[in-house]
Amino acid sequence: MSPMPSLYSQLYDRLAAAAGADPELKPASRPAFGHYQANAALRLAHERGQNPRQVAAEIVAAADVTGLCEPLEIAGPGFINIRLTRSALAQMMAAQMTDPAAGIEPVATPQQVVVDYSAPNVAKPMHVGNLRSTIIGDCLVRVLRAQGHSVKPQNHIGDWGTQFGMLVEQIIDDQVDVASLDLNASVALYRQAQAHFKADPAFADASRRRVVALQSGDPQTRAIWQALIEVSKISFNRAYRRLGVLLTDDDLAGESIYNDLLPAVAADLTAAGIAVRDQGALVVFDPDQPDDAPLIVQKSDGGFGYAATDLAAIRYRVDQLHANRLIYVVGIPQTHHFQQVFATARRAGWLPEGVTAEHVGFGSVLGPDGKMFKTRQGQAVSLDSLLDDAEQVAAPDVAVAAVKYADLSNSLHKDYVFDSERMTATTGNTGPYLQYAHARANQILRKAEAWGVGVDPSAALTLLFGATTTDGGPDTALADGVLTEPAEDALLLALSRFPDIVAEVGHSLQPHRLCVYLFDLATAMSAFYEQCPVLKAEGLTRTSRLLLCAAVKQVLAQGLDLLGIVAPDRM
Ligand code: ARG
Repeated sequence: MSPMPSLYSQLYDRLAAAAGADPELKPASRPAFGHYQANAALRLAHERGQNPRQVAAEIVAAADVTGLCEPLEIAGPGFINIRLTRSALAQMMAAQMTDPAAGIEPVATPQQVVVDYSAPNVAKPMHVGNLRSTIIGDCLVRVLRAQGHSVKPQNHIGDWGTQFGMLVEQIIDDQVDVASLDLNASVALYRQAQAHFKADPAFADASRRRVVALQSGDPQTRAIWQALIEVSKISFNRAYRRLGVLLTDDDLAGESIYNDLLPAVAADLTAAGIAVRDQGALVVFDPDQPDDAPLIVQKSDGGFGYAATDLAAIRYRVDQLHANRLIYVVGIPQTHHFQQVFATARRAGWLPEGVTAEHVGFGSVLGPDGKMFKTRQGQAVSLDSLLDDAEQVAAPDVAVAAVKYADLSNSLHKDYVFDSERMTATTGNTGPYLQYAHARANQILRKAEAWGVGVDPSAALTLLFGATTTDGGPDTALADGVLTEPAEDALLLALSRFPDIVAEVGHSLQPHRLCVYLFDLATAMSAFYEQCPVLKAEGLTRTSRLLLCAAVKQVLAQGLDLLGIVAPDRM
């Protein structure tokens, strides 16, 4: 079965047609009221000066919900309470469990999406911001791809800039064999070069000349610079593998690739009257933000900086990669930078109408003391030390799940405290708890298998739904008699919402909503185990409950996969 429109969207369309307006369809505020409620009558009545219950009655009379819901009910001042039919819910479950994507709906108009994330800096250790960006970006890429968008990750690594002048100069000075360096050694060398630069004017001059040599393509300078990138790439890739994220070398699009495009950025902004000379620098003032410091395109010494590179990257992504949605997963401290870059690009026509640019900002990771997370030596915490920490308390797969889930389950703007004990716990809203819920569903299915009562999904579906009717839809008469317990009902409803949640995350770019959903699903699953025996049940009851377990397992696995978390069959 191919994914069908979610029950929510089917319901939405039918009620919208009846109301001639947004039906304001929401999950029911209490299970006793049904599954959903439509609140539009109150607003419409207010607008038209009519009685809300009367308006609700008109919507109910006009709505064709056959096959989808029980008769609609009007409650209180004019709410419409909605209960989906058992067969609609069961049919959705059946479709989901035979669909590898668990019912994720392909979008009607797939977009070309560029996701800029991870973006660590060469010859610097990956900081926690790069780590969060990597985890969040990876999740967004997975969600958008699952929706059918064409997604191009762009790893905007910091591989360009004046710091390479002093770094290369130091390497030549010390006659360091670059091939022998690793990331730590190159970081140490960078610190040494910085000190040297401050203390020794001759070295500072040589470093500045070295920047020019790098920019003009001097072979020796370029070779050393390239070697430094290779050294850093090895450790970036090691981190990506350890985290199990999708990034590869194909996604590398470092700052250096835009170098040749920077003069045109400056020239075009100047010609358009958008950039002006101010104290020797080329800058952009935003007429809408008169109190803002200007965006610096070119420094007074002629050098281009971070902002110019991001402007060139926008042009490249829109013109060459044909992107119509640009997403930047970068920490909150860069919010203002992106506001200015996007505003400038809009004015220059580089972000034409129909192309959106979004900064997905996120907060910091704090230590147990509530302050910025630092190692005991006072340095920024590295990815490896975080994962090592989590691995003190859990197996590698579980540790990675714990760290990623902690990162994704907090709403992005909030800072959160890194607490390896809490995040690796198999109870509570944690990654390991969801992995455990998945393994538990699997365990029941395995046991059923071993006891000779296992279900073959398609045979069981035929058994439950009977023969396929002439119009192609399943005959769901039988299904109406099973899965009627409140815990089963709650689980069916939760399952049917998965496609809506995925669509929501693809739109809002807020992974924590998927986490909330999966946690609710796992919680509904444990309530179901408590209230409804599975293996000890018999006949169609057992068959239908095993199918429910299989569907939950499928949705948990799919949901975890979208978060970038593996779902082991056993734990
Ligand atoms: N390298 C930067 C950092 O570590 C992040 C780059 C983000 N992406 C961008 N297009 N500016 O802070």
